[in-house]
Amino acid sequence: MRERSLQLLEWYDVHARSMPWRVPPADRKAGALPDPYGIWLSEVMLQQTTVAAVRDYWRKFMGLWPTVADLAAAQDADVMAAWAGLGYYARARNLLKCARAVVADHGGVFPPDHDTLLTLPGIGPYTAAAVAAIAFDQPETVLDGNVERVMARLYDVHTPLPAAKPELMALAKALTPQERPGDYAQAVMDLGATICTPKSPACGICPLRDDCMARIAGTAPVLPKKTPK
Ligand code: ADE
Repeated sequence: MRERSLQLLEWYDVHARSMPWRVPPADRKAGALPDPYGIWLSEVMLQQTTVAAVRDYWRKFMGLWPTVADLAAAQDADVMAAWAGLGYYARARNLLKCARAVVADHGGVFPPDHDTLLTLPGIGPYTAAAVAAIAFDQPETVLDGNVERVMARLYDVHTPLPAAKPELMALAKALTPQERPGDYAQAVMDLGATICTPKSPACGICPLRDDCMARIAGTAPVLPKKTPK
């Protein structure tokens, strides 16, 4: 298990995608961590929206409201207007609620632990794990669609989604390292987005190719399976 996460981290050291909110692996290794507010904002925006579409919105929000206190003090209409185009407007309303709760209940400082993060408006298990791991380097396991696909292939899981979720979560947890868990969380998501893609995965250049049970079985392109709607 340990070697697999280390292989992934070594791959990430070279291939990490550059994102405006992201602290590059070399800087993280030197002890730098990102602003939790910026990570939370990016993760809320990235739900149901691509990295490419989020970049400019994230920069705009950080420019207009550089801190969570600035966002908490904003007019609702200004935030909704700045969000226009990103879609799923409930996210923007929850964004404001969450910023105000961080200011009112946590002194304007994002709490570092998963369970406290979960108590905040609009923060579910995925966002709580992502913020705890990426912003605070806690060994939390992030399970989004990318990670589900990587796990289903690595372990050749044929149980269809969504029934497979608990199984995939258990596999993902077992793989999460104690060292560099924040980089690790981002590494699995980058792998899923760039190599272990839904169609035509680039197995030949995957850092996990020698261990990947679906690659060996020839089933990678048909995994994960989905229960028909
Ligand atoms: N998708 C959602 N959050 C992400 C992250 N932190 N890195 C890469 N892809 C993501």
